[in-house]
Amino acid sequence: MTDIATTLFDPQELESKVKSMYREVALNPRGEFHFEMGRGLAERLGYSPGDLDRIPGDAIDSFAGVGHHFHLAGLVDGEIVVDLGSGSGMDSFIAALKVGSRGTVIGIDMTDEQLAKASRLAEVEGFDHVTFLKGYIEDVPLRAGTADSVISNGVINLAHDKEKVFREAARLLKRGGRLALSDIVTESQLPESVVCNSTLWAACIGGAAQQDSYRDQIEAAGLKVVRVDDNPQYQFISANAKGASQKYGVKSVSLLAIKP
Ligand SMILES: C[S@@+](CC[C@H](N)C(=O)[O-])C[C@H]1O[C@@H](n2cnc3c(N)ncnc32)[C@H](O)[C@@H]1O
Repeated sequence: MTDIATTLFDPQELESKVKSMYREVALNPRGEFHFEMGRGLAERLGYSPGDLDRIPGDAIDSFAGVGHHFHLAGLVDGEIVVDLGSGSGMDSFIAALKVGSRGTVIGIDMTDEQLAKASRLAEVEGFDHVTFLKGYIEDVPLRAGTADSVISNGVINLAHDKEKVFREAARLLKRGGRLALSDIVTESQLPESVVCNSTLWAACIGGAAQQDSYRDQIEAAGLKVVRVDDNPQYQFISANAKGASQKYGVKSVSLLAIKP
């Protein structure tokens, strides 16, 4: 997948397409997208209504994740969490509830409007132990061994160099730390016609890696995959996205990997 994407795409064109889609997600969450967003989706994926009631509603409205992985992350009081591709901040705020005021959550995102929204919500709603930093998930501006847990939701499929992202996750984790994520993968390798469609890429389909190769890339980064679960409750909504999804087995998974 990395090779096809690198050959077929200008990474800057892809970045600008992804940024423009997620700018809309931050500013206009009730607009039309290929994917579902918001509280109904979050509850269906497994988020607890009680947790959702305790975090900013505007972050939930712009939630564009694809699964739930907090049962895999097993966050405890006082831990440090890095959220790769934090968007408008919903997962970072949920993580903040789990690690408490003695813990720290750092969200990383490249899209200014997502960062601005998440940072404003943290400030206004008093989430003092949550910080949002501008950065690429391929090159995170934090020291090695910072995190007890790295989390990510619906993001790594958007990266054209996934190996680099997983190496970065491994670098950020302490020994024994956990990578818990939800993401889109495929059962069969996608054809060039889908990979080349930058709208489908930005909608979390075109960049999806074949599931075995996704797992191999995590392990090549030095992490041990201990659990992978399918999330059949996640479905794409536009006809175009649904068609590609059914034809190639594009699906959501949640996964836990440990740094030995
Ligand atoms: C599908 S949204 C998911 C956001 C959030 N995790 C959620 O569950 O709502 C993808 C997010 O990843 C960010 N993103 C995509 N590629 C990125 C990259 N290479 N570096 C940093 N952020 C990235 C986008 O700006 C967007 O906010």
